[in-house]
Amino acid sequence: MLVKLNINYKEYSLDIDPSTPLLWVLRDHLNLVGTKYGCGVAACGACVVHMDGEAVRSCVTKIQRAVGKKIVTIEGLSEDGNHPLQKAWKEVDVPQCGYCHSGQIMSAAVLLREIPNPTDEDIDNAMSGNICRCGTYIRIRKAIKLAAEFQKGKI
Ligand code: FES
Ligand code: FES
Repeated sequence: MLVKLNINYKEYSLDIDPSTPLLWVLRDHLNLVGTKYGCGVAACGACVVHMDGEAVRSCVTKIQRAVGKKIVTIEGLSEDGNHPLQKAWKEVDVPQCGYCHSGQIMSAAVLLREIPNPTDEDIDNAMSGNICRCGTYIRIRKAIKLAAEFQKGKI
């Protein structure tokens, strides 16, 4: 069946089973491999992308749900890696192995849009579903606060 998807501001028509998880389409069909497979059961956050601006777990999102929506992955978050979060992630040198971080950044992007000046509690609440096995949580929090400053144009 032909499924039309809008991903990173481009239209795609894919001959594919509409019950296929979005994550499979991103990685295996479109080679958008920045979004990671961690658990496959919506438990880790490695696969978070945006669907009409909301954070969704692409491992459990069938592509039929994505039809008519705008999907943005880490590759589409900014034109050249200059989103405030991407700049802050580099500045703070957040990743250890790096595996969880596209999901972390995509979740944090929704947080910063909704709460431009998040407290520690806001960050913990918004990010609690994103697991980092390397334990980079302190640096993630620091980078989100730095990104908030970048976003306000204070730095
Ligand atoms: S891979 Fe989707 S939440 Fe873990
Ligand atoms: S940096 Fe390794 S899982 Fe987060």
